Amino acid sequence: MSTIHIVGAGPGRADLLTVRAARILARADAVLYDRLVSAEVLELVRPGAELHAVGKEEGRQEEIQRHILELLEDCARRHEVVVRLKGGDPMVFGRGAEEWLHLAERGYAVEVVPGISSAVAVPELAGIPVTFRGVAGGFAVVTGNRMAGCCQEWEAYARVDTLVVLMGVGRRAEIAACLMRHGRGGDTPVAFIENGTTPEERVVVTTLAGSGGADVGTPAVMVIGEVVALRGKLADAAGRDAVVDLASLV
Ligand SMILES: C[S@@+](CC[C@H](N)C(=O)[O-])C[C@H]1O[C@@H](n2cnc3c(N)ncnc32)[C@H](O)[C@@H]1O
Repeated sequence: MSTIHIVGAGPGRADLLTVRAARILARADAVLYDRLVSAEVLELVRPGAELHAVGKEEGRQEEIQRHILELLEDCARRHEVVVRLKGGDPMVFGRGAEEWLHLAERGYAVEVVPGISSAVAVPELAGIPVTFRGVAGGFAVVTGNRMAGCCQEWEAYARVDTLVVLMGVGRRAEIAACLMRHGRGGDTPVAFIENGTTPEERVVVTTLAGSGGADVGTPAVMVIGEVVALRGKLADAAGRDAVVDLASLV
């Protein structure tokens, strides 16, 4: 009987994968992976396993999602260890729970393996903790994808100490305008962390008022709140060199 493992690949660096994820990849017969899964993580897949790149393209999301579900079922009929590998944590956006539900309703054995989400790890490794006593007592993680025409929903987000926005780069001007309309100061510090945890990482620090004009590429995590100002003191101590020998774990 085959098991489909819905696995979090973490935010990029292979040594930020869980030990369980690395062990499953080493036994995989087939792996379906998203665009944000790094080449370094894919190197841990058992040699000879089927590899399927199933990253979404703008405008074809629904068609590709249907293809992913069919391919998962096809792989489960032919193999024992099937892995659906998703960036970060598989249940934080990215439709992981929809895939889980689809498979569970059809009687497939599914195991979920959590991953380190970019929502917390990417800011943290850039020297920005999402909470800090006396500065931020809470945080929220939201998608920037659903901005169009629903600024009203953001009224509550404007009051959260630290707001972490995923998939928000394309709508950063709209997001900033909406938060300011709901009372967040234009001088609130904002950071965009592009390609976090990878050698291509780039951090842009600005303000809410300056966010629309900031030069930012994707993928990036947008962090809004006073914790961004801590970066100057913490970035050098972010532990980039603490790399472990993965071979000793699997
Ligand atoms: C579909 S969501 C998936 C989130 C993922 N499940 C997680 O827990 O990190 C994709 C978004 O996550 C963010 N993201 C993921 N990995 C990232 C990284 N290494 N650097 C910057 N942003 C990243 C970006 O905002 C990107 O648009």
